[in-house]
Amino acid sequence: MPLPKAELHLHIEGTLEPELAFELAARNDVQLPYGDTDALRKAYQFEDLQSFLNLYYELMAVLRTEQDFADLANAYLARAAAQGVRHAEIFFDPQAHTKRGVELGTVVEGLWRALERSQADHGISTRLIMCFLRDDSAESAMETLRAAEPYLDRITGIGLDSAEVGHPPVKFREVYEAAAALGLRRVAHAGEEGPPAYITEALDVLGVERVDHGLRCVEDPALVERLVRERVPLTLCPLSNVRLRTVDTLADHPLPAMLDAGLMCTVNSDDPAYFGGYAGDNFDAVRSALGLDRERLRELARNSFLASFLEDDEELRAR
Ligand code: ADE
Ligand code: ZN
Repeated sequence: MPLPKAELHLHIEGTLEPELAFELAARNDVQLPYGDTDALRKAYQFEDLQSFLNLYYELMAVLRTEQDFADLANAYLARAAAQGVRHAEIFFDPQAHTKRGVELGTVVEGLWRALERSQADHGISTRLIMCFLRDDSAESAMETLRAAEPYLDRITGIGLDSAEVGHPPVKFREVYEAAAALGLRRVAHAGEEGPPAYITEALDVLGVERVDHGLRCVEDPALVERLVRERVPLTLCPLSNVRLRTVDTLADHPLPAMLDAGLMCTVNSDDPAYFGGYAGDNFDAVRSALGLDRERLRELARNSFLASFLEDDEELRAR
C-alpha cells in the first residue's frame, strides 16, 4: 500500500503522456512533429527549465476541447490514485490555451468534468489553482483573472509559473492583490532557477501561503530561518530538479538537509509525464537515493496534508 499523500505541485498539462498526446492529435487533426511516441519520448532531454517549457507548450496544441481536458485530468487522477494520492491541488495554465484560441471556459469546464467525479471515481479530493505565466505581461495576467471571475466557484487559488529568471514576483503585485480581494489563495513558483530574493519577494509582495520549489532558499541561511519560523511550506519536486538540472543528481538533492533544518517540505511531481514519475515515484526515488527512512517519509506525507488548502475536517478524511 503506497503512503497516503497529497499532491500540491502538479501542472495538469505536464501529465500529458506521449500516448495520450498522439491520441488527442489524431482526434483533433493536429500534426505533431514527431513520428511516434518513442520519437517524442526521445525529445525529453532537457538542459534547463526553458528547454522543457518549449516542448511543454508545443505539445499543448493537441488539447482543444472540453473532453480533451477531461481525459487529461482523468488519466492523471487514475495514475495518482494508484500511487497513494488522496488529495490533489492541480495547477493549470489558462494563458497557454487562450493564446492559441482555446477559451478559458473550455479549459475549466473540461477539467471540472473530471474533478467533480474525482472523489467518487478515484478517491481523490481536488482543488484547482490557476497559474499566470510570469514571462507574459502583468496586464495579460490581470485580464485572465477578470476572465476567470465566472468560474471562481471552481478555482481555489492562483499561482505563478513558467520562465522564472528575469520575471520577479513584484511584476505581479497588483494581480495578487486583486486575487486576494476575491478571496483566492495564493502560491507562486520561486527559487527554482531564480534567486533566493524571489522567495522573499513572493512572501512579502505577493503574500503567498506556500512556495513552489523554493529550493534555492538553501543559499540564504537567514531566509531558511524565516521559512522555518513562519512554517512556510515548500512544494519540492525532486525528479523535476534532476531533469531540469537544478541539482546534478538525486543523491545531491538538499531535501535531507532541508528537513534537518526544520523546513516544512513536501514532495511532488511537477510535470510527471516529462520528468519520469508521479508522486509515489518521487517518494520512492528520494527514499532510495537519499536514504530517507520511514519516519521521514511519513513526515513528508503528513506535511502534504497540513500544507494543503483542505479544511480541517476534509484533511482528516483525506489522510
Ligand atoms: N510550468 C510547468 N512546469 C513548470 C516548472 N517546473 N517551473 C515553472 N513553470 C512550469
Ligand atoms: Zn511547477
